[in-house]
Amino acid sequence: MEHDFTTLPARRGTGSSKWESMLEDNPCVASDVVPLSVADMEFLTPEPIKAALHRLIDSTSLGYTDPTEDFFDACIAWQERRHGWTPERSWIVTSPGVVPALYTAVTAFTKPGDGVIVQPPVYYPFFRAVEQTGRTLVENPLLRDGTTWTFDLEGLSEIIRTEHPKAIIISSPHNPVGRVWSEEELRGLLAVCDEGGLTILCDEIHDDLIMPGHTHTTLLKLATPEQASRIVVCTACSKTFSLAGVQCSAIFIPSDDLRKRFLGAYSAQGHFQLNAFAYPALIAAYNECEDWLDELIDVIWGNYLRLRERLDGRLGGLRVHPLEGTYLPWADFSAWGMPADVREAFLHEHAQLYLDSGAVFGEGGEAFERFNIACPAWVLDAALDRLEAAYGSEAFELARQGSDAS
Ligand SMILES: Cc1ncc(COP(=O)(O)O)c(C=O)c1O
Repeated sequence: MEHDFTTLPARRGTGSSKWESMLEDNPCVASDVVPLSVADMEFLTPEPIKAALHRLIDSTSLGYTDPTEDFFDACIAWQERRHGWTPERSWIVTSPGVVPALYTAVTAFTKPGDGVIVQPPVYYPFFRAVEQTGRTLVENPLLRDGTTWTFDLEGLSEIIRTEHPKAIIISSPHNPVGRVWSEEELRGLLAVCDEGGLTILCDEIHDDLIMPGHTHTTLLKLATPEQASRIVVCTACSKTFSLAGVQCSAIFIPSDDLRKRFLGAYSAQGHFQLNAFAYPALIAAYNECEDWLDELIDVIWGNYLRLRERLDGRLGGLRVHPLEGTYLPWADFSAWGMPADVREAFLHEHAQLYLDSGAVFGEGGEAFERFNIACPAWVLDAALDRLEAAYGSEAFELARQGSDAS
């Protein structure tokens, strides 16, 4: 392996959201415990990105900075090489993040009170982007069949007929169920969205994190020109290269009208530019780090196989669902028969295991835990050792009996 995926970066005490929330829960957590929650990675930053940021600091000042042509070229070439489609230069709008872009899009394309659909269990800021902007949350939960999940297209059609929503937010690939939607599923979704003329906000932030045997298709590749005029695709280099703290995403908006409205809403929030580090980080990531990404995917896939081998059907009958995309496997803990809060407290207290409780992702997620396996294999092994030991302890039976009694 050419790149270093075994050294743990020193993040304790740096203000890392993931680490701080673990330390807030337990300031005395053992010094070798690594949280496996919030979706950023426990890997060193790729060398070309570090070099680009050093060059920026060493060679110029840090004044107001706009994207250069290199930035747009890098975004377009990346989509061509990795995803087989060619966006136009004029479609690209920058945003400090995909979540801010979703808030901006909801504000720009709908009115207060309008219905906006989300499909739980799903990345929880989707709910907030609807509710905190004064729109009406309309839920169309995913359908589950054993360990696979899909869109409920009949439910969607019914909602469109009866509730007349204006927009839908999609996670593609899906966080947290780990699906990479097939072309057939996406075409089906597009056809149903046509029934209500819905604006589609498609969050493709996990588009580069695709496991062997699967292919991500951007919604814009499948859309007719009419459909594309109602679609916004959100991408970023942040999830792929663990650059969330740099705050740089590229939003593709083919419609001139939607783009104008998006930019109007963006500037009305007082946003104009990204920080000066965002542009060189993205350019280096997309132009120089493809081999790093290919190795990363091997590491994540190896970690997933390890997780599955150690958990699936074990520890009382846990189920690890298939991971098609993302680095966030979704594991069913229903066999433990514990409410989410009891399970969470048990995992924290007795396994020092900090995952994301499935309950935060809404309906259908309550019995699940989301693992973040973008970490060195030895970190994952240590976490699973702690989980096994906690499961085999008396504390597990006590927690379970407490659940039975309640
Ligand atoms: C589906 C999804 N969208 C958006 C984000 C965050 O996007 P950003 O940091 O660019 O706001 C995440 C982070 O985990 C995510 O999983």
